[in-house]
Amino acid sequence: MDQIKIRGGQPLNGQIEIGGAKNAALPLMAACLLSEKPVTLSNVPHLADITTMANLLVHLGVDLELLGRSGGGVHAGRTLKLDGSKVSDTVAPYDIVRRMRASVIVLGPLLARFGHARVSLPGGCAIGTRPIDLHLMAMEALGADITLEEGYIETVAKKGLRGAEIHFPQVSVGATENALLAATLAEGTSVLHNAAREPEISDLAVLLRRMGAKITGEGTEIITVEGVTSLQPTDHSVLADRIEAGTYAVAAAMTGGNIELIGARADTMQRTLDVLRACGVTIEKTTQGIRAIAGRDRLRPQDITTAPYPGFATDMQAQLMALLVLADGTSHVTETIFENRFMHVPELTRMGAHIRVDGHTATIEGVKKLAGAEVMATDLRASVSLVLAALAAEGETTINRVYHIDRGYEFVESKLASCGADIQRIRKE
Ligand code: UD1
Repeated sequence: MDQIKIRGGQPLNGQIEIGGAKNAALPLMAACLLSEKPVTLSNVPHLADITTMANLLVHLGVDLELLGRSGGGVHAGRTLKLDGSKVSDTVAPYDIVRRMRASVIVLGPLLARFGHARVSLPGGCAIGTRPIDLHLMAMEALGADITLEEGYIETVAKKGLRGAEIHFPQVSVGATENALLAATLAEGTSVLHNAAREPEISDLAVLLRRMGAKITGEGTEIITVEGVTSLQPTDHSVLADRIEAGTYAVAAAMTGGNIELIGARADTMQRTLDVLRACGVTIEKTTQGIRAIAGRDRLRPQDITTAPYPGFATDMQAQLMALLVLADGTSHVTETIFENRFMHVPELTRMGAHIRVDGHTATIEGVKKLAGAEVMATDLRASVSLVLAALAAEGETTINRVYHIDRGYEFVESKLASCGADIQRIRKE
């Protein structure tokens, strides 16, 4: 398995092109299953999770064509043409779904178009139990019969789906997306209450509307969908990745650097930018994106609590913790979305961090410096927090099991190296 070696201590200066958001691209790709007409997506990031979704769609019968690349520099967003006209299979097999939990997003569109979907129970990130009951509740409300057998969810709607009032007891990004996709082809009107408000949901609603769906209210807690019977071909460019942008802003802040995040959208990452400013980082909007400039003094400690959007993103929690490890004082980080999302803590501790975890809250006593060590990547965001810590640490850090990083960060070494990082991937069989 590949390793990443980083010799820390260089201030990172320069520009990084931000890719399309993985979490937007995955449901956007799944939307092609709704229609016989092609969906062309540009700015698709180059990531392992995108390949997994592409494999799943091809398995189902989608004709997938790589039309080329856009963007210059290191980031080269791909353009994918996804033609769902010949989809015949409605079974998402264990072998593919176990690689990525988000594969469950094919459930809604398959069920809506074909009246049947059989999806393996997912695997994916090892961050807590991550059930899919809310996805199933939404499908049931839309009229599906659901059974669980041999590790598969069997969903049937013989007469098609019917519009419904769906009340989510808890905010779920994936379940909201699945419901939105399914309701697009359901007969009548659906209202999603307590819907997730993430920018990736809005991006999906924009694509679906371009395909001919009738959706209003995305970005709020109530989304209304009037079902339609047919859809049209469309093009769409994937939203910029707010988590990737936030991660590189932290890299600038932790190394005393100055990085312009090309294509980053400040309007989708306000809370992260507010926290960085409170830490003493200067954040400027530029004509091309956002610039993050480290302050001269030590970073200021913060208390943060993760929450659904527009709250502080759980996907930025590990990176912010890596930053707060170097702050001048005591910080608290409370994780409310996922259990088990402090797996970076023991690894950061190996690098000299002082962190105590009590239930869902981590107390961080800031230290003046970190030291390189051999550490292990565990999940996607935990892994990148180790990259950040390593960039700021004295000496060399070796990060093992970096395949987690490749699931969500495209060209991570080249992007960081272009800003002066001493970073190298050691390829291993
Ligand atoms: C998405 C993102 C992930 C991010 C998360 C929260 C994608 C591909 N992934 O994941 O990066 O960290 O949103 O912002 O977009 N839950 C249930 N039952 C369900 C579904 C969820 O109890 O059926 C719980 C989860 O265990 C979790 C919470 O709801 O505690 C939120 O999860 P959810 O918003 O669904 O996250 P994902 O869509 O899986």
